[in-house]
Amino acid sequence: MKIRVLFAVCLLVPGISAASSASDWQMKEMTPDLENLPSLQEGFRLYVNYCIGCHSLKYQRYERTVDDLGISHDIALQNLIFTGQKIGELMTSAMDPEQAKSWFGAPPPDLTMVARVRDPAWIYNYLQTFYVDETRPFGVNNKVFPNAGMPHVLTDLQGVQSCAPVSGGGETGEAAHCELVVDGNGLYSVEEYDQATYDIANFLFYVGDPSRLERHRLGVYVLLFLVVLYVLTFLLGREYNKEVL
Ligand code: HEC
Repeated sequence: MKIRVLFAVCLLVPGISAASSASDWQMKEMTPDLENLPSLQEGFRLYVNYCIGCHSLKYQRYERTVDDLGISHDIALQNLIFTGQKIGELMTSAMDPEQAKSWFGAPPPDLTMVARVRDPAWIYNYLQTFYVDETRPFGVNNKVFPNAGMPHVLTDLQGVQSCAPVSGGGETGEAAHCELVVDGNGLYSVEEYDQATYDIANFLFYVGDPSRLERHRLGVYVLLFLVVLYVLTFLLGREYNKEVL
C-alpha cells in the first residue's frame, strides 16, 4: 500500500526524482519553440553528429523528421544520415547495448521520450554544465546530473569548462561550491554554444511528441475555420431575423 502511495506521489510530482539529485545549480529557463524551424533543423543536425552514435531515437523515423522539419530527402540522405540507413528507417544507433554498458557503466538510454520524462530545460542545462573533474572516469562531472556516466561530447564546441571554487564557501573545492568557467578555446562563443544546446533540447522536445508540430499548424486552420463559420452563422442569423421580425 505504502509503495502504491509513493508511486502515486512520484507520478503527481513530475521532476521529483531529478530534484532529489539536484546540486546548487540554478536551472536556466528554456521555452521550446516548435515554430522555429531553423532551430529544430540545427538541433537535428547536431544530434546526428554528436549524439546518435550512443543514443538511438528508436520510435522516430528519419523520413518523418525531415518532412516535419522541412528538409529535402536528398539533403538528408547526403548530409544527415550517416548510418547508411534508408530514409524510411527508424533512427537507431549502431552501438551494442551490452558493450556500451561495460564502457559507460550505464548503457546510453534511448532519447525519444527524454524530453517528456525529464524536461527540455533539464536537457538544456545538462548540456551546459559539464565541467572538469579528474575523479570521474571520463574526467568530467555535471551540475544537473551529478556523477553522470556520459563524457562531455560537445567539448570541441564549448571548450573546456572547469568549476572554480567560490571564495568564502569553497574551501573544500567541492563541486557544489564552485562556479563554471569556460577556457574560451571552443569552436563556439558562449552565446553560440548556448544556442546550440537550446536547439538540441528544442529538437528533443519535438521528438518527444512529433504530432505536436502538426497539431500546432492544424490548430491555426481550425481557428480560422471557426472564425469564418462564426461570420457566416452570424450573417445567416441576421437573415432569419429579418424574416421573423
Ligand atoms: C559516448 C557515448 C555518448 C554520447 C556520444 C552521448 N551520450 Fe548522452 N549519455 C551517455 C551515457 C552512458 C548516459 C547515461 C549516463 C548515466 O546514467 O549515468 C547518457 C545520458 C544522457 C542523458 C540523460 C538521460 C536520462 O534521462 O538519464 C541525456 C539527456 C543525454 N545523455 C543526452 C545526450 C545528448 C543530447 C548527446 C549529444 C549531444 C549525447 N547525450 C551524447 C553516453 C553518451
